Amino acid sequence: MVELTAEELKQHFSDKIFKQISETADELGLECYVVGGYVRDIFLQRPSKDIDVVVVGSGIRMAEALGERLGNGAHVSVFKNFGTAQLKYHGVEVEFVGARKESYTHDSRKPIVEDGTLEDDQNRRDFTINALAVCLNRARYGELVDPFGGMNDLKERTIRTPLDPDITFSDDPLRMMRCIRFATQLNFYVDDETFESLYRNKERISIISKERIADELNKIILSPIPSKGFIDLDRSGLLELIFPELAALQGVETRNGRAHKDNFYHTLEVLDNISRKTDNLWLRWAALLHDIAKPTTKRWDPRAGWTFHNHNYIGEKMIPGIFRRMKLPMNEKMKYVQKLVSLHMRPIVIADDVVTDSAVRRLLFEAGDDIDDLMTLCEADITSKNSERKKRFLDNFQLVRQKLKDLEERDRIRNFQPPVSGEEIMHTFGLQPCREVGLLKTAIKDAILDGVIPNEYEAARRFMCQRAEEMGLTPVEGA
Ligand code: CTP
Repeated sequence: MVELTAEELKQHFSDKIFKQISETADELGLECYVVGGYVRDIFLQRPSKDIDVVVVGSGIRMAEALGERLGNGAHVSVFKNFGTAQLKYHGVEVEFVGARKESYTHDSRKPIVEDGTLEDDQNRRDFTINALAVCLNRARYGELVDPFGGMNDLKERTIRTPLDPDITFSDDPLRMMRCIRFATQLNFYVDDETFESLYRNKERISIISKERIADELNKIILSPIPSKGFIDLDRSGLLELIFPELAALQGVETRNGRAHKDNFYHTLEVLDNISRKTDNLWLRWAALLHDIAKPTTKRWDPRAGWTFHNHNYIGEKMIPGIFRRMKLPMNEKMKYVQKLVSLHMRPIVIADDVVTDSAVRRLLFEAGDDIDDLMTLCEADITSKNSERKKRFLDNFQLVRQKLKDLEERDRIRNFQPPVSGEEIMHTFGLQPCREVGLLKTAIKDAILDGVIPNEYEAARRFMCQRAEEMGLTPVEGA
């Protein structure tokens, strides 16, 4: 966080738009303040986004007057029901709202709203660091209004509610997710009293829409060290309610002195590892879900110890149910996550053995364009504490990557299209669609992937004729 003198803070409001708001407010005789995330982000040196302005009086009247003053190029949208108005001006978005006092009923996020003072408005905000306000009226231009110690909390990197946290969270339970999300994004600490209140109010999360929860979860996943957010979600009891499959990964069982690893902490380590390499949200989701089926597939085998057979395939099957319930997109993004989860063991198996061309070609065929992401996931999955073992795997992955590159250049398998189509097979042997056509197609594909023939038309055609003859098929004349 950066400390600013009063003059330096004022400099942050030197843009023309602030001057115009200021003059309009003075003309209307209304007190007006920039508030919330915009002010917070100045001190955190984060890029500022939309500007929120609180007017003690009517925000709509203020926005309309400002729109007239700015003339062409300004566009005002009024949301009467919410008592807010938005002004767009040369790519800048300013949201105006009248200072409010809110009270909530138990079963809804929709508040009963009355006009209030600036302090009433700051009071009803989620966290002290989001309740900082800067005055825009000329006489007090640039003055910081911080009645709840928001600056001190910024300095001490603390998330704390302005009111009793039980009131703040119960009023709007989405704030429980926001609390953990801000702590994770900013690497802040959640104040103890605030944290205890998360635990007490966790059940209230049930009135929040799945979409909004997913938005916050995605922001946690996209944070620099996402594990921090999941650990807080778990400790507060929220994880069990919003994502029980992930919570179920916890725990270590020991039998005959043999323990398996705690798959929750392993998963979080993989997620942190991958987050150092990529900002791709869905690749990070794949890391979070790669072992999701371990609890359901866990078995004890007296000889082999703990096994999790087929957890990759069962995991792939669990994903649509999880995505549907959490209102995550049921589209190609989900398919991508499924594919990575189903394939996540393959490079490890290859790297554990002699790295053959055939195995690498098959991997390339199945992963297609997602092969690089799959390799990134697999490298992140090596969390062994045994540094020699870890090094051996990572070295072997280098070998797999090199092989992938060589084979890709030579064989073009990545977006493999069989050089001889089913149509051509049917035409050549005068066949209707039948089992033989499928057998021939698979034989050609396998021959190419196993390196028996090159990925070329002539070679594939010759191979097809040979194989067809063995199957007792003869080409029709002229085909
Ligand atoms: N706010 C709140 N409770 C919420 C949502 C928002 O009190 N559930 C208040 C906070 O003062 C917040 C401001 O409204 O700073 C603006 O909300 P929003 O734009 O959602 O959040 P930002 O703080 O700007 O941060 P981000 O854009 O990262 O969500």
